[in-house]
Amino acid sequence: MRFSTTGPLALLTSLLAHNVSAASNMVPDYEVKLLMNATAVLDPTKSYKLKPSVLSAFSMPTTVTKMNVQFLDTNTKQIYNAGWSPRIRKTEGESGFELTYKKRYPVSGSDINAALTTANSEGFDSTDTDWDAQIEWGYSQKTLSISRKKSATKSGYSGMDLPNTSDSRSMLIDKAPGTFEDWGGVNNWGTDLLDVSRIYGPVLAKRSIGTWSGIEVYIEVWPIKDVAGTGIEYIVEASFKTGSVSVAGTKSGDLQTFLEGQGWFLAGDSLKTGLIMDRY
Ligand SMILES: *[C@@H]1O[C@H](CO)[C@@H](O)[C@H](O)[C@H]1NC(C)=O
Ligand SMILES: *[C@@H]1O[C@H](CO)[C@@H](O)[C@H](O)[C@H]1NC(C)=O
Repeated sequence: MRFSTTGPLALLTSLLAHNVSAASNMVPDYEVKLLMNATAVLDPTKSYKLKPSVLSAFSMPTTVTKMNVQFLDTNTKQIYNAGWSPRIRKTEGESGFELTYKKRYPVSGSDINAALTTANSEGFDSTDTDWDAQIEWGYSQKTLSISRKKSATKSGYSGMDLPNTSDSRSMLIDKAPGTFEDWGGVNNWGTDLLDVSRIYGPVLAKRSIGTWSGIEVYIEVWPIKDVAGTGIEYIVEASFKTGSVSVAGTKSGDLQTFLEGQGWFLAGDSLKTGLIMDRY
């Protein structure tokens, strides 16, 4: 027997078929990122380290963790312009390199679900357990980032060294996840672009870890080439992670108020990757 193609039964059949095939949206965590005023919080006479008053307010030790970071892209930034950022990072004290393939989706206003639904329609859903969804929660803008981490090692490098162009390309190509490799349904899209990519960076950032109001807070200092390309602009970012959208909302407001009270706040969104892609 065949079902009628119209009427309530057909509608029900179609709804059931849809629900079986459509996986739910990814569930993100939240990383609140607020900028701090570099002039107010760094000491230029002490190699632009965080001032003792800042360390003390966040119960931070004087020791920092260094992170050396670079991105790969073509000269015309075809990868970045498609919303992707392939990154290589060397973290002090960790062996090997951390490779990250990150896809960004802008969040319009506070409509996080719409961004997750867009990502779902492009192939990122709750069944993609190797990928992490995160809402980067800034001062005025939120961004959904979906990322996958891999690790790689290569002989000939030590300390905080990052791999040269040829080794960076081959590492990121070897470990490329299929979603990045064949993005947009184009065979080898990502890996073909990596094959002709160059390095954007490196930037050697320093992270301090402390606590504030019961939450773990990071403060990172990123020395990025300035607009003129002749000096350094220090980007200072305070951040914390949470799995809860309501904690992200209340604690980001509290932290902003605290930073404002100290004269340490800088109104603006932290767009470090964008600055690195523009200035290197
Ligand atoms: C940053 O801090 C310095 C020193 O406290 C202050 O003079 C300057 O106005 C601040 N800049 C902004 C944008 O708030
Ligand atoms: C860097 O790149 C070249 C190829 O241009 C390669 O032969 C060399 O061994 C690489 N590695 C290091 C550690 O310099």
